[in-house]
Amino acid sequence: MMIVTINPADLLMLEGRYGVRPPAPFVPGSEGVGRISAVGPGVTLRVGDIVMPMPGNTWIEQITLSARHVVPLAADVDLEQAAMLKANPATALVMLEDIIPMQPGDWIILNAANSAVGQNVVKVGRALGLRIACVVRREGAARILRDLGAEVVIVDAGTGAAPALPDGVKARLALDAIGGVATERLAAAVADGGTVVNYGLLSGESPRLSAHDLVFRGLILRGFWLAPWFATAGPARIKQVYSQLVTWLGEGKIGAKVDARYPIEQTPEAVAHAAREGRDGKVLITTRFLKG
Ligand SMILES: NC(=O)c1ccc[n+]([C@@H]2O[C@H](COP(=O)([O-])OP(=O)(O)OC[C@H]3O[C@@H](n4cnc5c(N)ncnc54)[C@H](OP(=O)(O)O)[C@@H]3O)[C@@H](O)[C@H]2O)c1
Repeated sequence: MMIVTINPADLLMLEGRYGVRPPAPFVPGSEGVGRISAVGPGVTLRVGDIVMPMPGNTWIEQITLSARHVVPLAADVDLEQAAMLKANPATALVMLEDIIPMQPGDWIILNAANSAVGQNVVKVGRALGLRIACVVRREGAARILRDLGAEVVIVDAGTGAAPALPDGVKARLALDAIGGVATERLAAAVADGGTVVNYGLLSGESPRLSAHDLVFRGLILRGFWLAPWFATAGPARIKQVYSQLVTWLGEGKIGAKVDARYPIEQTPEAVAHAAREGRDGKVLITTRFLKG
């Protein structure tokens, strides 16, 4: 591997708090980008090709994979953005396309919007013609989203009136990465019969929705996790999603900010940095193979 990412799921996994608990010892990491150093017989990929591995356990310098399990990338691809391609941009695209049918002009609202998923939701959503309202917990985070062209950015410290769209407009879809009361606050901006998707538990609490929202307003609360999507979407849809993402990556249409890079020898420092509040983007781990 040349570059690997540290995602909130990796931190939860290291703490034993993720949805799955692999037996120790295990190699963490769910995504990254690498260069092929050797190929087996019959493989059409060549030594030197840049690829994105689909399996996890990526925090490792060298890994042996089946050619079927890597996505080939262009030689001049942005390596840092390529390292961040597998999980968060795919989560953004699949949540916008595969949960409810959305039409250009429909509103969505999302919280923790300055996260890598959030930044990609804004970019993918714009590419799909959606109207996007972002909720963040601090003004410094709002700037990133305004720079990306988000139509509405609301700074919500979690108290007072719930976030609302201008002119009484309501969203068809809400994407909640926080859980707890944040789910309910986001749901207030959703139209009757709309859908609230919880895909992260950044608060550590289960998503909460009132009986009023569920029963009288007919909101639908559902979860999303990319891991089972891989098992159920089918090879054609998976290929379509990653082909689209690779095209957008080449065009610079998706991606997220990077706050810091650490050599693999400083992985503990990198993990501590990734766990800090108020980062200005992802923390990446680089290996000696980055230099070629
Ligand atoms: N379900 C899936 O398949 C799937 C796939 C990918 C990611 N995810 C989830 O999506 C979420 C975002 O992941 P990411 O990699 O995009 O994150 P990231 O880039 O590492 O950013 C983390 C974000 O979370 C915010 N945050 C952390 N704790 C918070 C809290 N208690 N309340 C409000 N905001 C909080 C941070 O805000 P500050 O900048 O203010 O600190 C930051 O914007 C995570 O929960 C992750 O597990 C789920």
